[in-house]
Amino acid sequence: MLKIQGGNALRGSVQVSGAKNAALPIMAACLAVPGKTVLHNLPELRDIASMSDLLGQLGMSVTRTGTGQLILEPTRSRESVADYDLVRKMRASVCVLGPLLASRGEAFVSLPGGCNIGHRPIDLHLKGLAALGAEIEIRNGYVIAQATKLTGTRIFLGGAMGSTVTGTCNILSAAALATGRTIIESAACEPEVVDLGNFLIACGAKIEGLGTPCITIDGVEQLQPVEYEIIPDRIEAATWLIATAATRGDVTIENVIPEHLSAFLDKLTQLGVLCQINSNSIRVSGVTEIQAGDIVALAYPGIPTDIQAQLTAMLCLAKGMSVVTDRVFPERFMYASELVRMGAKIRREANSVIIQGVNRLNGASVMASDLRASAALVIAGLAAEGETTIRRIYHLDRGYEKLADKLTALGADVQRLQDRQSPPTGSSIPGPHWQQAGIGEPK
Ligand code: EPU
Repeated sequence: MLKIQGGNALRGSVQVSGAKNAALPIMAACLAVPGKTVLHNLPELRDIASMSDLLGQLGMSVTRTGTGQLILEPTRSRESVADYDLVRKMRASVCVLGPLLASRGEAFVSLPGGCNIGHRPIDLHLKGLAALGAEIEIRNGYVIAQATKLTGTRIFLGGAMGSTVTGTCNILSAAALATGRTIIESAACEPEVVDLGNFLIACGAKIEGLGTPCITIDGVEQLQPVEYEIIPDRIEAATWLIATAATRGDVTIENVIPEHLSAFLDKLTQLGVLCQINSNSIRVSGVTEIQAGDIVALAYPGIPTDIQAQLTAMLCLAKGMSVVTDRVFPERFMYASELVRMGAKIRREANSVIIQGVNRLNGASVMASDLRASAALVIAGLAAEGETTIRRIYHLDRGYEKLADKLTALGADVQRLQDRQSPPTGSSIPGPHWQQAGIGEPK
């Protein structure tokens, strides 16, 4: 449980950690790299620990040596089963599919189950791997993928919701070791996909077009181990920017690649949030009033769905009416009813929320439903009057390194207390639903 006494403006500087969503597929790709890979700038997070456990189960030796460094090395084991107990803890476990298939010719990966941010199928991952020559069946809740040989081909990887981030990662890793040329069309352009591609290139893969919707991969026979540094976490950086604006603070966010946040930074300016952008840091200061505005979360280079909830929390305190739409995960609004409990005026309409800004939020006891929802509630709690307690903050540990410590260093009044709720035993965590909360029309 996190107890926040709201009202303190954040001040100082904060260091952004390595990107979770880049680190996870890169760690998985190490399954296909013979020898000792050393990764730097790895955040200390529950998801990283879960991926380390999974790789351990798959016969990798994974050692954390000092701050932010991980050494990964395959052993002789050919174990190819990623079981439900590990996969249910973290959907990104599915990132082992491509690397396992490429290096061991088989993968038995539990199908990830339900999720609190909406429907998350993996049909495109499977379609891409099948196009490379894998035989795939779903049996007893597992994806069973087998291939004596992977052969490059042209793959259209777009779906009804656009491109897929971890799906593109899976096909990239598998195609890197396939025979011949693979062309991925409608590939995800997210910086985390580019980081995996750059890691594979450093290992000897031949890849062109990273960061564009068309990626060409010429398969190589073997990858070589390397030392590689993970990019900084753009979602963490954005979360700090929003928290600073919401509390009218003055914070310099360090270890950022501003180009990874272009659409978001442009929108912040429109909302009246002044940012001083340097080569690897961004300072937010002098925010007096946040303007209302409309936001649409899209695939990269659009505003990321992973900061949609945090932006909504900030816009609860904006002047006027805002509309926030999520085109990537249209159901990702479970946190809205919790913000309503803090005095926000929010109404849900299909894949959007309509927010009527209020002058102040009030502290309340609220419940987190997923990682970014937790971050949104933290932002609301920091900006609110009085005390907010957030339960189920184990979600935060999945994606924000040392969040409470970083907040305290910036002057926030936060205390981490023993949560009476233990972490979930399944991936589908019952949580509040906006419809049950009777959210009214904004006034
Ligand atoms: N989709 C399909 N079929 C597929 C795959 C995806 O229809 O086979 C749909 C999804 O249902 C969704 C959309 O396509 O509507 C995009 O999903 P995507 O596959 O890109 O998401 P993901 O790879 O499962 C990653 C991040 C998420 C982030 C999304 C979108 C990792 C480990 N996870 O998920 O991060 O929200 O991309 O950018 O990289 C988080 O960090 O909190 C988080 C949820």
